[in-house]
Formats: sequence, C-alpha cells, structure tokens
Amino acid sequence: MNERTLSIVKPDAVKKNAIGDILRRFESAGLKIVAAKMIFLSKAEAQGFYAVHKERPFFDSLTTFMSSGPILVSVLEGEDAIQTNRRILGATDPVKADAGTIRRDWGTDVEKNAVHGSDGPDTARWEIAYFFSELEIQTR
Ligand code: CMP
Repeated sequence: MNERTLSIVKPDAVKKNAIGDILRRFESAGLKIVAAKMIFLSKAEAQGFYAVHKERPFFDSLTTFMSSGPILVSVLEGEDAIQTNRRILGATDPVKADAGTIRRDWGTDVEKNAVHGSDGPDTARWEIAYFFSELEIQTR
C-alpha cells in the first residue's frame, strides 16, 4: 500500500554530517522524499512531539536532546513506507540494531539513535501533521 511516514534526522546525526548518507539510504530503499526541512525545536516543541512518552523516565532527557541542535524532518512516501523505513532504521537501541542499518552505523545509544521513524499509520498521520501542512508536501 502506498503510504507516508515521518522521518527525523536527530541532532546527533546532523552534527556528524550524516544527513546526506541517511537521505541516500531512504532513496536507495525506494522511498520518495516528498517534503523536507531543517528546524531547531524548542524544548516545548520537542515535548509536544514526544507527548506520548511524557510519563517515561527518559522524557526529560530525550526532549532536552531533541532540542539541543538542528534536526532534518522529512516525509517519505512509497509502498509500505512505514515498515520499509523502520527496517532500514534498525532497532531503537543501536547496539541491538542489525548490521547495515542506519542506527547501527550512526547511532550512539538508545537516546542518541540518529533517526526517528513513525511506528504505524495513525502515528505517521499525526507526526506528519505536527511538522508539515498539506501545502508543503509534494503530490506530483
Ligand atoms: P524514537 O524513535 O525517536 O522514539 C522515542 C525515542 O525515545 C526513541 O527513538 C529513543 O530515542 C528514546 N528512547 C526510547 N527508550 C529509551 C530509553 N530507555 N532511554 C532513553 N531514550 C529512550
């Protein structure tokens, strides 16, 4: 099924000059980049994005990290885009991620794990709308 998913290149990966490598991997996997922008989240904006995790012990540290530097947010489109993206990202913890995945190659630990990807269709819709208006997403 043709789907859209939200991707974030996190502050750790931006600092490592990994944006180009990560976007290339999306395109090589057949995902089309239909929207992209670089932004610098405030702490409140990071808290809003990760609100689903607000009761977790790592919430404060995660949102401090996500507002510590610029990020590259993008919308990826393609056949089974959500699962395709999650497959090439690898497991949340880079140490447990398969060889050749983005998190294994660029992540440091479970927080500084280089990239975020939506985990399902409902989350994808909500996350895309958090960062992009329909007018900012290419449809041709
Ligand atoms: P992400 O895909 O952005 O979704 C939620 C994030 O929370 C996750 O990647 C990790 O960066 C972070 N996270 C998940 N579990 C932990 C944990 N145990 N400690 C710190 N951060 C975590």
